[in-house]
Amino acid sequence: MTLTEDASGAWTVIALDAMAAQHASRRNLTVMPAAPSSPADVAEALTRHGYLPDEGLATSIFLAVALKRPLLLEGEAGVGKTEVAKVLSRWTGGTLIRLQCYEGIDASQAVYDWDYARQLLHLRAAEATGEARGVGTAELENQLYQERFLLKRALLQAIEHTGDSVPVLLIDEIDRADDEFEAYLLEVLSDYQITVPELGRFSATRPPIVVLTSNRTRDVHDALKRRCLYHWVEHPDFEREVRIVRMRVPNVIEPLARQVASAVEALRSLNLYKPPGVAETIDWAQALAVLGVSELDERMVEATLGTVLKYREDQDRARQHGLAAMVKTAVERGAPVR
Ligand SMILES: Nc1ncnc2c1ncn2[C@@H]1O[C@H](COP(=O)(O)OP(=O)(O)OP(=O)(O)O)[C@@H](O)[C@H]1O
Ligand SMILES: [Mg+2]
Repeated sequence: MTLTEDASGAWTVIALDAMAAQHASRRNLTVMPAAPSSPADVAEALTRHGYLPDEGLATSIFLAVALKRPLLLEGEAGVGKTEVAKVLSRWTGGTLIRLQCYEGIDASQAVYDWDYARQLLHLRAAEATGEARGVGTAELENQLYQERFLLKRALLQAIEHTGDSVPVLLIDEIDRADDEFEAYLLEVLSDYQITVPELGRFSATRPPIVVLTSNRTRDVHDALKRRCLYHWVEHPDFEREVRIVRMRVPNVIEPLARQVASAVEALRSLNLYKPPGVAETIDWAQALAVLGVSELDERMVEATLGTVLKYREDQDRARQHGLAAMVKTAVERGAPVR
């Protein structure tokens, strides 16, 4: 079985046996190389493109694509939420359209705005050439509100995208935006339509794959959550984190990758203000590789602690807890399994 997309952009599950393939080609259906048939398919494809999901995340992504629902990813900083959208676009070949949210973001920054400078230039040019005198005010205004003067921001770009592949819309850190903006999103994500009063309605012929992320600095409203599938992204377990380090920092040898993952796991259990995410694990491994370290020791951990813990209080806490004991456990765990 696989998922395919018909001319109207609808994803459907079809059997990929010879007959179905023939049928698809007769009806001129394209079997999308990216179309997943199971969560395991998703996991395999993401891994090929540099991201190692756990089973829960792979299942959520599979369902979001199959059911065409936005996927809301919440989790601590650095656990790999934003990267999900990036890897999806690498996999599907679709354009990544990114909307970075912040306090005060509004429709003119997220949806569309009019290019006032160009409109003004158009008016000046009409005056200079005498054209303005020949046409009425209403006609002149009409000229100013044409699509060529429209600045299409991320949401409108995603809605009216017409490329070969389905675009991936990343709405990053939605928890930073205000309630009103969330309400606006609700509308867009329900119908995949945007109305520009002066021009009419823009509708998606192929709804984008939508990934929203939140660090949960505030709760996203229930109404928005209801429209999304939801997944809490956990820190990876030890073995998966070792594999991530090996994948992302290939020049780090296996024992050192295991030691770093073990030390990071220990640091995460210390109830820190900012527990290290995967991003910090990768940074730490990279730093150790650059320094030519092949085995963790207390002196090296002390010297490179700033790559993994970014608050002085957290560093103090780690020291109080004992770096030597942490290193000892890490080295034992890093030893090759016999
Ligand atoms: N499962 C994974 N497989 C491969 N790389 C990963 C994985 N999880 C995280 N990473 C890597 O960790 C880094 C941080 O990921 P990302 O920026 O997506 O985190 P985030 O959750 O969005 O963080 P923040 O909340 O700070 O924005 C990236 O370099 C990403 O590639
Ligand atoms: Mg992020």
